[in-house]
Amino acid sequence: MQSIYLDHSATTPLDPRVLAAMQPYFAEYFGNSKAIHRAGHLAEAAIEGARATVARCLGCLPADVVFTSGGTESDNLALRGPAQYARVHDRPFTLITGPVEHAAVAATARQLRDTLGASLRVVPVDRTGRVNPDDLRAALRDLPANGIALVSLIHANNEIGTVSPVADYAAIAHEHGALFHTDAVQSPGHLALDMDGMGLDLLSLSSHKFYGPKGAGVLALRERVPYLSAQTGAGHEDGRRAGTHNTPGIVGTAAALEIACAGRAESAARLSTLRQRLIEGVLSAIPDAELTGDPADRLPGHASFAFRDVLSSTLLMHLDQRGIAASSGSACKSGNEQPSAILETLGFGPQWTRGGLRLSLGRSTTAADIAAVLDALPEAVAAVRRIAADVRSSAPA
Ligand SMILES: Cc1ncc(COP(=O)(O)O)c(C=O)c1O
Repeated sequence: MQSIYLDHSATTPLDPRVLAAMQPYFAEYFGNSKAIHRAGHLAEAAIEGARATVARCLGCLPADVVFTSGGTESDNLALRGPAQYARVHDRPFTLITGPVEHAAVAATARQLRDTLGASLRVVPVDRTGRVNPDDLRAALRDLPANGIALVSLIHANNEIGTVSPVADYAAIAHEHGALFHTDAVQSPGHLALDMDGMGLDLLSLSSHKFYGPKGAGVLALRERVPYLSAQTGAGHEDGRRAGTHNTPGIVGTAAALEIACAGRAESAARLSTLRQRLIEGVLSAIPDAELTGDPADRLPGHASFAFRDVLSSTLLMHLDQRGIAASSGSACKSGNEQPSAILETLGFGPQWTRGGLRLSLGRSTTAADIAAVLDALPEAVAAVRRIAADVRSSAPA
């Protein structure tokens, strides 16, 4: 077991209170929510209770809440639903997105372009990973008449922590008659979410990112959204996502979201203090290190860096040996030596793009953890650079 876990953006442990809320729905109240008997009614009541709780936390109606198997599925349904509706109604579909989206959005967008003929427009981002509103306006010009257009831009970036002004983007999308989806998978417990107040049409969540169960998530989907489900079957979730309900996962999602929302302000204040100490310590102790993402407007517990002449996978192994669990922040696994596409997009050169490090703090993180990382990281980076230099000098001329 790791002694210092700094990979909360990858996943979080299940909150014991969430586990306790889920427990009865595995073996005691195990009925199928669609069944016409008491066991079925009990499951249905639990699911509807959970739906009301999630709606309250997200500032939408219970009828807008669709339970899914996680963030990847929610992103898929959010993009595919309007695209398929447009296709069936013979209307052109335009998808506007950014170059630093999670793969669940980016790969789905490319597939919709290749299979359904969606017109895909990718808006550039600045050095912090944020879309300029004027660039979004430009991308929304000349939309086809009678078409359906969807803008999908991430709320808080998983790799570099930048928080984007999605309410402003939603307003711009609406001015141009487009719908707006945000992948808010990294947000709960850290950032306020309010579908009504922010003017969002669709929003994706993943329960395991906020101390809930893995394999559960939410797509919040306003009634006004033209949508044809990509997950067909027996019509669960009002025909928007078929499949027998994962009752424990749904109950756990609601319990976890409620706890995350209630504790958000206090947690954000505590984590941003620790994160700032970490960022300042790393940048002052390690040469050729850059903070990635926005220095101020970033997830409270998220610190991400690029180190020159460092291979992330080697650095992560060194940290692991010192009992520190971290990540490079991109989708790649340790041992995968591909450069980070996001760091490339942000303009980092080839000596930097394999050297990403993400340290994501959470409920268990203490000041002592931060001190221990600041103690271990400079030497770990130096060791990895020495290895790289040795390899270079021993390479045949
Ligand atoms: C921003 C973002 N979107 C989507 C996902 C996918 O969520 P899930 O793991 O629930 O499929 C992740 C998970 O890493 C994420 O960070």
